[in-house]
Amino acid sequence: MKNGLKWGGLILLMLCGQMVLAAPKTVIPVETGHTQLVMVAQENGVLQTLYYGAMIADPEAFKAFRTGRGTDNGEGPMAYPTAGGRYLGQPALHIRYADGTHNTELFYIGHDIRSKGDVTTTEICLRDQVSSVEVKLVFDAYRKEDVIVTHSEILNGGKKPVELLDYASGSLYLDANQYLLTHFYGGWANEMNIDSEVLTHDTKVIESRRGTQVTQCSNPSFLLSLDADRLQENEGEVIAGALAWSGNFRLSFEMDESNRLNVLAGISPFASAYRLAAGKTFVTPDFLYTYSQKGAGQASRNLHAWARNYGVYDGGKVNPTLLNSWEGAYFSFTTETLLRMIDDAASMGLEMFVLDDGWFAKDYPRNGDDAGLGDWEVNTAKLPEGIDYVASYAHAKGLRFGIWIEPEMVNPQSNLARRHPDWIVQAPGREKYQSRNQWVLDLSNPDVQDFVYGVFDNTMKLSKDIDYIKWDCNRTVANFGSEYLGEQQDRFFVEYVQGFYSIMRRLREKYPDTIVQCCSSGGGRVDYGALKYFNEIWTSDNTDALSRVYIQYATNLIYPACVMASHVSAVPNHQSGNVTPLKFRFDMACSGRLGMELQPKNLTERERALADRCIRSYRQYRDLVFSGDVYRLASPYDGDYYALMYVSQDQSRAVVFTYCVKYQNRAVGAHPFRMNGLDPSRKYRVTELNTDRSCWWGSGEVHAGDFLMHGGFNPVLQKTFDSAVFYLEAE
Ligand code: GLA
Repeated sequence: MKNGLKWGGLILLMLCGQMVLAAPKTVIPVETGHTQLVMVAQENGVLQTLYYGAMIADPEAFKAFRTGRGTDNGEGPMAYPTAGGRYLGQPALHIRYADGTHNTELFYIGHDIRSKGDVTTTEICLRDQVSSVEVKLVFDAYRKEDVIVTHSEILNGGKKPVELLDYASGSLYLDANQYLLTHFYGGWANEMNIDSEVLTHDTKVIESRRGTQVTQCSNPSFLLSLDADRLQENEGEVIAGALAWSGNFRLSFEMDESNRLNVLAGISPFASAYRLAAGKTFVTPDFLYTYSQKGAGQASRNLHAWARNYGVYDGGKVNPTLLNSWEGAYFSFTTETLLRMIDDAASMGLEMFVLDDGWFAKDYPRNGDDAGLGDWEVNTAKLPEGIDYVASYAHAKGLRFGIWIEPEMVNPQSNLARRHPDWIVQAPGREKYQSRNQWVLDLSNPDVQDFVYGVFDNTMKLSKDIDYIKWDCNRTVANFGSEYLGEQQDRFFVEYVQGFYSIMRRLREKYPDTIVQCCSSGGGRVDYGALKYFNEIWTSDNTDALSRVYIQYATNLIYPACVMASHVSAVPNHQSGNVTPLKFRFDMACSGRLGMELQPKNLTERERALADRCIRSYRQYRDLVFSGDVYRLASPYDGDYYALMYVSQDQSRAVVFTYCVKYQNRAVGAHPFRMNGLDPSRKYRVTELNTDRSCWWGSGEVHAGDFLMHGGFNPVLQKTFDSAVFYLEAE
């Protein structure tokens, strides 16, 4: 732990038999290109967070800064608050020691700063003198992206085991008059709705205890608008953050009596008191955040840039358009069905065919969701020629091939459930509740990890032509427990996720180029922990384009468009019953990674022609969706339109998507949208795509960037589900 640390001139004094620390004040700035987090180790050794915001030239000024808070009222804004000492708020770290005591007081020991490329890493070492617990706070500052990623490493330096009762990844103290918290809630097929509230004093907690599929009801991410009543797109101070963890999480926002806000983000401590043996270190997941002075828009762009460059597996790389078999065929298909879908996908100009659920299990064939999970052998009664036959047919047609697995799950109707009842998540003597007719396998068990790894690995061996895996996970955990963990049940939730990550790490070593989608029932694993290993997420099982307006708007506040798989499906929509025009469905799906999920042979000739056209034009601009900067022009939460654009890094190209989600009376006329992110002094040719009759008078013409950004752009979108896509190219 001490390697490479510069010691902070520490003096230990013996006073009344107690070690007391005295040291010169030390200012520790963590800096990105435009932002700064300033921590100060005070003379008494307490490390405080005194500032997070826009870059100031001389952070040393914080040496003299006083919070004005007397310690009689509890310790001030600690950088990593602990239970014990004089801290009275929610602790980041709460330890129960072998003797039953709960007090930890961390004092600054030293810190180290090193840089590699655009990333500066600051490690700060803190220590509890009585217990010898040491905490290393690690901050990676990404210069260009203005993102800070932090985690903590908790070392039990004592001689006896300790229990970690709270072990947040990080703590962020903020100082404003008012905080508007924006966070996300939902349920299956209705994910990522937005809640916004002005925080009042005391604590607001956002937590998931679902074990798996944790992000379906809430997401481990947030935006905080400082001194504002509403989330603003282009103005005001906004801090956006996310926890990179695919399991139970807790975000807490505690406003104290002096209006300071402490944000804690970490693994949920629910049923997870973590026993840390002497000499062992627990490494918490990453907590990442960014600061923007230009509203939510800049905050999103910062997070997205970080995600593309560092946070997402192969982030920013274009993933192929595809036809997925699920909503078009469900469980009812033959080889012939698949080959015809492949023919259609190829003729429409799509680039991949994905065979979804239903291809496996012999003794308990997977012809519905009530059997077969766990038995990962090809169902040759259904597909006598096997997978390789279908995959190589796709390749011969110029398509790539993908296949669905749900390796963490088992149906009671399976050989696996009979062979390995000990592998199923359960608590002794209690009901193993089924959900979607299935049980969860216990990933805390290394044997199960090997099995799950093997499911992926063996599926890949079915054909050399498998390019893509859709990894599903379709239920949450109930009556949690692990036969493998014996009396250490407290480890279950944490080790499940660690097991999942360890499988993914191994798989990525062997399959670095396979595109892997994180599906999880749609929306169940939307987090930056999973995205380290996955190329994309299935944002929701709800493929209704109107629902997707809201789901994708909110998802994109935190996660980049390059990870959002978005499919055109049939009408009436299978989830919502909504009937939307095909053009609206395409225009929506094209704002993410475009796919289709229907039976192409059911499309009329006119629909086919439109589909071909939309797929073709998508190729012209999709690099902007995958790696451009997003500018949101209208929020569906604020009015009757959703509009956004992606702009190339050099501002020479852009694509604009506009959608009308509510009927406008005809007298309203055209609605002005202010484009954003263009070069005001350049001229752009603006062309509406996928139509012969543009809804904007200026389509096909050349316009100045500043004109487009100041209200000159006003397409006529009057009817519900009117939509339009415009392509911009600088002259
Ligand atoms: C989940 C997924 C769907 C589909 C089905 C298959 O619901 O989210 O996309 O793969 O499982 O059973």
